[in-house]
Amino acid sequence: MAIRTILNDETVVLRKKSREITEFNSKLWNLLDDLRDTMYGAEGVGLAAPQVGILRRAAVIDVGDGLVELINPVIVFEKGRIDEQEGCLSFPSLYGTVTRPARVEIDGYDRFGKKVRIKGSEYLARAMCHEIDHLDGVLFMDIARGLHKVSKEEREKIARQRKRKAR
Ligand code: CO
Repeated sequence: MAIRTILNDETVVLRKKSREITEFNSKLWNLLDDLRDTMYGAEGVGLAAPQVGILRRAAVIDVGDGLVELINPVIVFEKGRIDEQEGCLSFPSLYGTVTRPARVEIDGYDRFGKKVRIKGSEYLARAMCHEIDHLDGVLFMDIARGLHKVSKEEREKIARQRKRKAR
C-alpha cells in the first residue's frame, strides 16, 4: 500500500480517456488500495486512477459512509438534478457549482470481476459522476459555474459539512 502523487497538470494525462480494466488481478488490487490510501491521505471523497497517472477505468469514493470501488463504471439510470458546490483533489483550491443527477445507478465490476450495480443519491451520486468524468478526461471545471478559489480552511469546512450530510 502506498500513497501516490496526485497529478494536477490538466494538459497531459488528466485529459486522456482511460482504458477498460480487463484483468482483475493483484495489480488492480494494488491500484485500488493505493487510490484508497491516497484519497484518505488527502482527505478527499473520491479519486480516479488517471489522477495518479494510470489511464485505467477505476476509481474509489467515500463520502462518509464507506468505501466504494468503481471499475469500468457506466451510468445506466439517472433522475433529478441538483446544483451543488464541487471540488477536485487535482485542483484543491478551486470550487464551483456543478449540476449533477440527484440519483444514479451504475453498472460496473467489483475487484474480483463480478458484475455489480451501485445505486447512489445526492453526494454519492455527485461523487460517482465526477469520478466517471475523470475516466473520460472531463474535469469539473469544464462544467462548473461560478468557479472560484477557496482557502484550505474553507475547503475543510465544506468537506466536513458534506460528510455529515451524507451519513
Ligand atoms: Co476530481
